[in-house]
Amino acid sequence: MPKISLCIDGREIEAAAGASLLETALEHGIYIPHLCHDPDLKPHGGCRLCLVAVRGARGFPAACTTQVADGMVVTTTGAELDQVRRDMLEILLTEHPLDCLSCAKNQHCALQTAAAYIGDVRRNLRRTGTPGQGAEFTPCFVLGRDYCILCQKCVRACDEIAHKKLLTVVGRGGLSRVAIFASQAELVAACSDCLECVKRCPTAALRPLP
Ligand code: FES
Repeated sequence: MPKISLCIDGREIEAAAGASLLETALEHGIYIPHLCHDPDLKPHGGCRLCLVAVRGARGFPAACTTQVADGMVVTTTGAELDQVRRDMLEILLTEHPLDCLSCAKNQHCALQTAAAYIGDVRRNLRRTGTPGQGAEFTPCFVLGRDYCILCQKCVRACDEIAHKKLLTVVGRGGLSRVAIFASQAELVAACSDCLECVKRCPTAALRPLP
């Protein structure tokens, strides 16, 4: 793979042509908040937290769906970027229980990591949603909808990695939710030795049975 060079936050970086801007930054120790990215899955561009500024580009492109290019000049921080990310994060947190200290994913949650990096989120939080959607228990895992950020990693992993397509997203806008398309018996047969969805979930939405 031919090499190109680009500048991220003032650092000259060499990268493989065609590589993702997000993965290139992360490989070089430059953290860009991200929730729906997974190196084993196709780029999705859903959470919009990995937005960056690219000189000459309109708006803020998502780093996970942008390929590096020779001579590219990228900025990953700044007041405007921070505010856009904060706005996106506040939407994701609107219906979140905000119970990190008692959550099974505490300290291992990508949402928590992103919120800590972006900062000032709780102060601006507008709780207009309706938390309390509860949890759905299956024979193999628990789906806690209050923690779901609709990154669709579970849906994509079930399709792209496990090749089972047992999960999907139904509904529109604020009514969107992950749905399971399988009977209990089918879940036992297909999921018992898989649980790729649980492994990929960045929050406590999908978790093993207690
Ligand atoms: Fe890029 Fe979610 S990680 S949009």
